[in-house]
Amino acid sequence: PLTTTGELVGRAAADRRAVAAFNVITLEHVEAVIAGAESTGHPVVLQVSENAVKFRYGRLLPLARAAVAAAERARVPVALHLDHVQSDDLLRQAPAAGFSSVMYDAARLPYADNLAATRAAVDWAHAQGLWIEAELGRLGGKNGEPPLDAHAPGARTDPDEARAFVAASGVDALAVAVGSSHAMTTRTAALDHDLLKRLAAALDVPLVLHGSSGVPDGELAAAVTGGIAKVNVGTALNIAMTGAIRAFLAAHPEAVDSRTYLSVGREAMVRAVADLVRTVTGPAPA
Ligand code: G3H
Ligand code: ZN
Repeated sequence: PLTTTGELVGRAAADRRAVAAFNVITLEHVEAVIAGAESTGHPVVLQVSENAVKFRYGRLLPLARAAVAAAERARVPVALHLDHVQSDDLLRQAPAAGFSSVMYDAARLPYADNLAATRAAVDWAHAQGLWIEAELGRLGGKNGEPPLDAHAPGARTDPDEARAFVAASGVDALAVAVGSSHAMTTRTAALDHDLLKRLAAALDVPLVLHGSSGVPDGELAAAVTGGIAKVNVGTALNIAMTGAIRAFLAAHPEAVDSRTYLSVGREAMVRAVADLVRTVTGPAPA
């Protein structure tokens, strides 16, 4: 059934676990995320990023309607989240499109501007009943940018600044920069667990890890123990899908029916989703 992100993250945080949140681009992604989560018995968040909306010719509704229909029929709770929103126009489409939550991304702006823009987005979102996440610190690798030097000033989230940001903005959750970076194709990120511990102690909202595709399983599990309650994964699904399709087409140069290779790509995503859900959520509920 369709549920809300606030419900899933709140419950995960209370249990000191995390909910996995996967970025979806095509209908095959939507189906794979739900099938993978169903195979574990755990809930899941489906997220559509502003970049995915741009890919869909700028239109949110066709993919959103498919995601809502799939979520309503799922055998596990599924929430819909709008991810990395910079456009106010897109933000305002969230409630009518079936999204219970948004990540408003003004982290590229200087602190005061990030805070002012986030505060305005929070006021609007809360009036609509939306759960809202924002970001402080710089996570590299967005929009094809190179990964940031994680040790550069401002790259990591500062606990004192984060406490002030959460209090002044009223956000429901905070994406923190603790060593992960977007769009990594190897799982080689080393997280700063000491910083994560200080952030968890300083903040009374759930913490979100972005760029989780580049984080090895052991580091992910440690991050969840350290206070991460939502784990965002995108690139890992594309690696699984594209790798499986590439191998299939190389072995079957005569193939023309798109269902033959899309189903192979979708099944590879189902397996990747199930593995990651288990890593961040633990064994299936009794
Ligand atoms: O918001 C989405 C995530 O941060 C995805 O990052 O594609 O590096 O896994 P990733
Ligand atoms: Zn992200």
